[in-house]
Amino acid sequence: MFNFIRLSALFFFLNISLFFAQIYKNPSENIEKRISDLLNRMTLQEKIGQMQQYNLWEMNDKVLEEVADGKVGSFLNAGSKEDKIKLQTVAVSKSRLGIPLIFGRDVIHGYKTVLPIPLGQASTWNPDLIKKGAEVAAAEASEDGIHWTFAPMIDISRDPRWGRIAESCGEDPFLASVMGSAMIHGFQGENLAAPNTIAACAKHYVGYGAAEGGRDYNTTLIPEGELRNIYLKPFQAAVKTGVATLMSAFNDLNGVPATGNNFTLKKILRKEWLYDGFVVSDWGAVSEMINHGFAKDGEEAAVKAVNAGVNMEMVTENYKTHLTQLINSGKVKVEWIDTLVAGILRVKFKLGLFDNPFGINPSKTTLTNTNKKIAKEIATESIVLLQNRNSTLPLNIDKINNLAIVGPLADAPADQLGTWSLDGNPANVITPLKAIKKEFGHKLKIYYSKAMETPRSNDRKYFNDALEIAGKSDCVLLFLGEDAMLSGETHCRAFLNLPGKQEELIDELSKLGKPLILIILAGRPLTFGNVANKVNSILYAWHPGIMGGEAISDILFGKVSPSGKLPVTFPRTVGQIPIYYNHKNTGRPPSPNQLGRTLGTPENPDGYASYYLDVDYTPAYPFGYGLTYSSLKYSNLSLSDKTIKLDDTLQVSVSVTNTGNFRTKEIVELYIRDLYGSITRPVKELKGFKKIDLAPGESRKVKFSLSAEDFKFYDINMNYIAEPGEFEIFVGGSSNDKDLLKEKIILK
Ligand code: NOJ
Repeated sequence: MFNFIRLSALFFFLNISLFFAQIYKNPSENIEKRISDLLNRMTLQEKIGQMQQYNLWEMNDKVLEEVADGKVGSFLNAGSKEDKIKLQTVAVSKSRLGIPLIFGRDVIHGYKTVLPIPLGQASTWNPDLIKKGAEVAAAEASEDGIHWTFAPMIDISRDPRWGRIAESCGEDPFLASVMGSAMIHGFQGENLAAPNTIAACAKHYVGYGAAEGGRDYNTTLIPEGELRNIYLKPFQAAVKTGVATLMSAFNDLNGVPATGNNFTLKKILRKEWLYDGFVVSDWGAVSEMINHGFAKDGEEAAVKAVNAGVNMEMVTENYKTHLTQLINSGKVKVEWIDTLVAGILRVKFKLGLFDNPFGINPSKTTLTNTNKKIAKEIATESIVLLQNRNSTLPLNIDKINNLAIVGPLADAPADQLGTWSLDGNPANVITPLKAIKKEFGHKLKIYYSKAMETPRSNDRKYFNDALEIAGKSDCVLLFLGEDAMLSGETHCRAFLNLPGKQEELIDELSKLGKPLILIILAGRPLTFGNVANKVNSILYAWHPGIMGGEAISDILFGKVSPSGKLPVTFPRTVGQIPIYYNHKNTGRPPSPNQLGRTLGTPENPDGYASYYLDVDYTPAYPFGYGLTYSSLKYSNLSLSDKTIKLDDTLQVSVSVTNTGNFRTKEIVELYIRDLYGSITRPVKELKGFKKIDLAPGESRKVKFSLSAEDFKFYDINMNYIAEPGEFEIFVGGSSNDKDLLKEKIILK
């Protein structure tokens, strides 16, 4: 009996200890407990292994061995679904602790269902729709075993020379915050462990978009106030939204590379924002600190990145090579390594990888009609109508018999996908030529000429073909712009005009006197002031993804009104850059009578104001601008009070009436201006927007509310405050004064 009791007690204790032994494997345990249990079991080498991310274009035995030895925590570009299954099987069954790998990939604007480039998506000003797009991307990517995307890119981009502006949400911190957060919600869903969601990565932290001269990877110099009031805003919003990871940027920020930057990575991200996810370096960015002249060698680069708080090193192996020795010598504290590894494990636990390591979405949703429909909706709403002389658009099918479709981008599937579409397949792209032929081929005689081999071609070889078909048509649709390879990473341009012989082509075609519709596909704002007056209408379609052709066709033929608005200011010429709407006023603001300067023609000085001699100081098209096929009237801007206190909420309302005869969506924009303060404030700041749908004749009261939060900014001492004083409140259809109604309030 006694023996039996002793044996049972032993059994009981054994069971208990077995149970505790399994804490990190027990799905019903709390994540923090699972993390600390696991950390307690890990060797230093295993911890460092979690901090290493490899790129893997091709499977090989060496990496499988390293996975089995616990020497790697993550892969990017890890091949096919089968390759990922193979790697993960080794990680969970052969490595000592069975810690799963996390597979990342650049799913930037859709996966197989390629959506418009992010700058195009931002032009929709429709976060609900953008969220759906990210859901589609996440569901498709997770079918292939991808757990983590390196998106959204929320770098404030005020420089269209910079090729990566294509990947951004544009120049405005508010718009980028809203759109970036919508993407994060879409990727991550309510539950990261669900089979159809993936972890997001807010990048590139921080300041990368301010590269001097618009040249990729270049130095950035951003005073702390500007950093906090502009560049950090979308990242702060992303952290609030619960973004799983961040990526540290390539750039030197105020003398300290972003990947070794204690101030942004530790003080702001972890201490102020209490971020507990993980930061992955950009590709090789740890090693690049040597080139920056910030680290003597790989060892010093590792110390600086680790101590600043970069949890995982992408591709290069400075952590793997030097961390053990750095910990032994006391240059890096093992407790800090635990904190960094905990950040990585936390995301792996939240993704459910310990419980369901493959994380493969079993539903077959890739390229379904539902997904394509969402891609088409996004493309449709991303298109911006910049000019429409004599209401040439929409085209009236009953008045056209012969249609000329001209240009190297009318039928260029790969270019339509845009930059960063690793998993897109040109075979799935519906080009404008295809879409228009399919829809109207039986009603119209459609002629097509490429006119130029590529958008960059410098010969006029095929001009005659184009002129010939244009000559016998009632209308010419001209598809120009940039091919995909002209934008994206390192694809920066010092000239922003339509490349190759495109302007000459417009010249020639315009001489025919036919209605000429220019559709520009591009990855950035281009400058085309020289030719804008030679065409009737201009549609800016960005790189619109697989469904772009149908979206463009629907807009051209009036199935739907364009409703996109610019998320970035369009300069008249490169010399105006940087040009953005939320600039400061200067001591000598130019006046409207200093306008009217023809591009490139120097005139006499006309007063000592902040303007150019040889071009208007105003942009070609302002931020928030975009026409529709209808006309809209804004009236009755009314405020709940003229004086508000800090804890009050100001109600703002405006009536918007569709005074035309076309159903349309309209983006109603709200800006404020803090007229004077302890530091100078921008002439306008976007603080709200709503996209509404109006039938002809319909009127809608649109309401906004503003609270103290909306009036706050970082002052000279980096206090986040709202200062009493006068504010202007603007509501209207673009950031341009002439499109805005204005009222004043006093904040007490
Ligand atoms: C470098 C790019 O800067 C970054 O955005 C991307 O996510 C990584 N490479 C991984 O491909």
